Amino acid sequence: MIYIGSDHAGFRLKEKIKEYLSEKNIEFEDCGCYNEESCDYPDIAKTTCKKISSEEEKAILVCGTGVGMSITANKIHGIRAVCAHDSFSIKHSRLHNNANVFCVGARVVGFGLALELLEIFLATHFEGGRHQKRVSKIED
Ligand code: RB5
Repeated sequence: MIYIGSDHAGFRLKEKIKEYLSEKNIEFEDCGCYNEESCDYPDIAKTTCKKISSEEEKAILVCGTGVGMSITANKIHGIRAVCAHDSFSIKHSRLHNNANVFCVGARVVGFGLALELLEIFLATHFEGGRHQKRVSKIED
């Protein structure tokens, strides 16, 4: 399951991401917000990330910059959130850091790049090995 959340600034990109996931038959749950009325990204980040209950599950968080969402998400135990707007970072956040939450800024990148980054995030697998030891240290 993919959990997806946004604040008002990320709402339209969230809707695009939902279309993309539907087309790919990827199961998702929309954790809000549900319109473009102003809301607070920490509330959405918390509600969305708290839904993650297994190693396989992931979340996508969209705000204006991706920054507020990632700062909040990384305060929740078990969350390894990446705020990324380039393909190298998103790919390596999966390969090396086993990132389970992708935060993206709707005011930073267009729909096309955001969806490409999402595709990489979902398709890339954690390498484990020497990286597992390091990721375990984060959890500790
Ligand atoms: C909302 O104006 C904006 O501050 C928020 O979407 C986000 O960019 C925060 O990090």
